[in-house]
Amino acid sequence: MVRLTTFSISIAIVLSFLGDTTAAPAPAPEVDYVSLIKTGAGLPTVRELGLTNADLTKPLPRHSKPALNNRDSLEKRYTPKCWDGPRCNRTDILVCYNYFSSLEFHPCIAGRNAPACSMGGCGWWFNTDDGLPIAVDCHDVALSGAWVLNNCQGNLTSGSNAAQSDDRFIINIHT
Ligand SMILES: *[C@@H]1O[C@H](CO)[C@@H](O)[C@H](O)[C@H]1NC(C)=O
Ligand SMILES: *[C@@H]1O[C@H](CO)[C@@H](O)[C@H](O)[C@H]1NC(C)=O
Repeated sequence: MVRLTTFSISIAIVLSFLGDTTAAPAPAPEVDYVSLIKTGAGLPTVRELGLTNADLTKPLPRHSKPALNNRDSLEKRYTPKCWDGPRCNRTDILVCYNYFSSLEFHPCIAGRNAPACSMGGCGWWFNTDDGLPIAVDCHDVALSGAWVLNNCQGNLTSGSNAAQSDDRFIINIHT
């Protein structure tokens, strides 16, 4: 009886030891994008939109390229670019992509001297050559800005593209 009890205790110790060593390491603290993202003046906040961290970090859709039409391809004046620096964390770029995508047909306005979305020091800046304000649908901004994630390499990256619907509207993504 005594031996059995000792045996049981030994088993219990072994099991608890195994339990400890096979437990997954504590996950790295997750970034609370909902709290940290900064959205521009005149745009709904992520809390107003009810977006969660899962919404903000979902991967780019497979077909995240704006549709081309003949007019666009003939008159395209802006050449998209990848830059060497200052560069953004790709997840931070993606979080703003998902934010703009969720705004759908809400107007995004270029010509403000501040990023329309920033996360972790990475901003989506909307500029025009002449500084005059131009508005395009935010989902178009999202898709056009996704060019940077689709085409610029590296874990840290930055770049620029024009909005597909109006190539005077320049999306610059950098820190
Ligand atoms: C990007 O990150 C991955 C995973 O951390 C790493 O394996 C890879 O070497 C990195 N690539 C560059 C270009 O730094
Ligand atoms: C980007 O940020 C995430 C969240 O903070 C982090 O896990 C990841 O390592 C970062 N990537 C790079 C390349 O710094």
